[in-house]
Amino acid sequence: MGLSKGETAAIMRAVEHSISYRQNVSDQKILPKIDAAEATRLLGGTLNEMGQDAAAVIDTIVADGDAGLMHFVSPRFFGYVVGASHPVGLAADILCSAWGQNSAYAAATPTSVVMENAVCTWVIDLLGLPSECGVGIVTGATLGNTAAVMAARNALLRRSNWDVEAQGLFGAPEIQVVIGAEAHSATAAALRYAGLGAERVHRVRTDDQGRMRTDDFRETIKDLNGPILVILQAGHINSGGYDPFAEIIPIARKKQAWVHVDGAFGLWVNAVPELSHRLTGVEDADSWAVDLHKWLNAPYDAGMVITRDREPLVTAMSAKAAYLPGAGAVQDMGDTVPELSRRARGIPSYAILKTMGKRGVREMVARHCELAQWVAAELSNIPGLTVLNDVACNQVAFHCGAGAARDVLTPAVLDAIHQEGLVYPSHGDWRGGPIIRVSVIGHQTSKADVEVLVASIKRAWAKVAAENNAV
Ligand SMILES: Cc1ncc(COP(=O)(O)O)c(C=O)c1O
Repeated sequence: MGLSKGETAAIMRAVEHSISYRQNVSDQKILPKIDAAEATRLLGGTLNEMGQDAAAVIDTIVADGDAGLMHFVSPRFFGYVVGASHPVGLAADILCSAWGQNSAYAAATPTSVVMENAVCTWVIDLLGLPSECGVGIVTGATLGNTAAVMAARNALLRRSNWDVEAQGLFGAPEIQVVIGAEAHSATAAALRYAGLGAERVHRVRTDDQGRMRTDDFRETIKDLNGPILVILQAGHINSGGYDPFAEIIPIARKKQAWVHVDGAFGLWVNAVPELSHRLTGVEDADSWAVDLHKWLNAPYDAGMVITRDREPLVTAMSAKAAYLPGAGAVQDMGDTVPELSRRARGIPSYAILKTMGKRGVREMVARHCELAQWVAAELSNIPGLTVLNDVACNQVAFHCGAGAARDVLTPAVLDAIHQEGLVYPSHGDWRGGPIIRVSVIGHQTSKADVEVLVASIKRAWAKVAAENNAV
């Protein structure tokens, strides 16, 4: 029957509102204008007994929802490590919902599964990973890490003649997990989800950039026996630093360990030939997790699990039942992800990659790294501010003031920056106290935007320092 007049109007209104939002977002203050209590008053409440006109619902969502939006997609959003939802990804995301594909099996939906497979092939090529890898497009790096840890668990225990998929973990040989002391919390979550325990790990000491120390790794792994999982990091959340893959992976290999790399954002630097020496050896791991919604700027939510050997990933993930279509010429996305039903979340990335091309992606990543260097250099020239990291990619971490005053001044400066509303760096805690963290990652973010950032930081620091007699 197609679309009713009201449904057509609803879709048109959503597109119009989307365009208007994107056209105006760069002029907006970044922070939401209302809090969750006010948003609850506007958007919560009880469900009407009777339905409403579809287009009116869309208009009301926008009218009531607008004030509570954080403008993550602004080119001046520098918080966390958050991509800015590329407009062509947004456009393709509309198609994705319009098509409503359950993108698990190519026999049922050749278009979406083939497009998602293309994304997998293109991304592993860009990242310099082996072409025969198994890949699944999941919701993000947390799930990417989880799926990889489950694949590792499968492979390591199979080598010990234990079928974990059938028998579970009770009575299984113990897997020893070796991880950096400053690994991202998402890897701890992955270990919990996989039943390996977040605390039952051997923590390797890190250097002043949060990178695993090779001497301590060697010492830690020396006496370990049985199945070993080593988790490394490509892109420390605060410093952007890389674990020394070329030193650690060969040592891990001698112990037949499975090496996994959490590369949520930092792995993208391997796409830039002039910068890839920072990650030398990363391609020798057994598995990787990387986000599409971070540095590729895909709309939420999309990330990847990548395994050198596809088989343990499929054995760990596939929920294939008798009624599902069998394997065909194309690798089924449903076999490498935990969901049985799933949206075609790779389609926006397909459109972004096609639009930017390899060169566009490389240039964007290189530009962000260069802008981060510039920000660090500028901040280092401001008396009273201390940049804590050697900029390894797109992250800059700094604090304000010295000694105990840092604990008060740094959050106060961040608050002043947020209240001014022109830019949004975010908070963190690193190297003994609070920090302000800048992530240069939005696809539109330019020199002009980082200039606004530095000027806002300068103003906030001058104000807070004067109020606290800190200079
Ligand atoms: C290093 C690292 N790993 C994992 C994650 C988790 O990624 P996601 O939020 O996409 O699940 C993040 C998020 O910032 C990260 O920086």
